[in-house]
Amino acid sequence: MAKLPLYTIEIEFGTPAFDETLQLRDDILRKPLKLKFEVADIEQEYKQIHLACYTEGMNLRGCLVLHPQEKGTVKMRQVAVAEDSQGLGVGTFLVEQSEHLSKAHGFTKMVLNARDTAIPFYQNLGYKKVGKEFTEVGIPHFKMQKNL
Ligand SMILES: CC(C)(COP(=O)(O)OP(=O)(O)OC[C@H]1O[C@@H](n2cnc3c(N)ncnc32)[C@H](O)[C@@H]1OP(=O)(O)O)[C@@H](O)C(=O)NCCC(=O)NCCS
Repeated sequence: MAKLPLYTIEIEFGTPAFDETLQLRDDILRKPLKLKFEVADIEQEYKQIHLACYTEGMNLRGCLVLHPQEKGTVKMRQVAVAEDSQGLGVGTFLVEQSEHLSKAHGFTKMVLNARDTAIPFYQNLGYKKVGKEFTEVGIPHFKMQKNL
């Protein structure tokens, strides 16, 4: 159960709300690793589903991206929660909302590449590790999945 009053909405690629999530993703996922977004990476996202999680007054607290794959599978990417809101249930709420939305779109399986530090978070939500550890953006990751 979220410890903050939260709501999640699907936002459109290229809008000011989307730009705000890009900034959050940069702050939480890229800057700590001294990485920058590549324009080509972002351009590919126009066909993906963008979810943003707010507290009252459209105060952005978290976001994620859903990338449809083949055969009823959807990939969860770029899960980021604002630093001052981590550990308050925002990530859990956001992932659960993304699962509801994915089911409503007819997807039956969620997959993701989890940073090793986030594995307990996803395990709490019912995701299972698949295969061996691998390196992405210079840090250890595991593939994880869950049937929806
Ligand atoms: C990982 C992240 C998305 C989790 O979101 P969050 O809002 O902080 O998590 P929640 O408050 O919903 O936590 C849910 C549970 O997972 C646990 N948890 C969260 N992050 C954890 C971590 N890094 N390690 C261990 N447990 C973690 C919490 O303790 C909590 O358990 P509890 O309910 O038993 O107390 C968020 O902390 C984040 O953005 N981290 C930095 C970026 C990142 O690692 N993104 C994931 C990339 S794969």
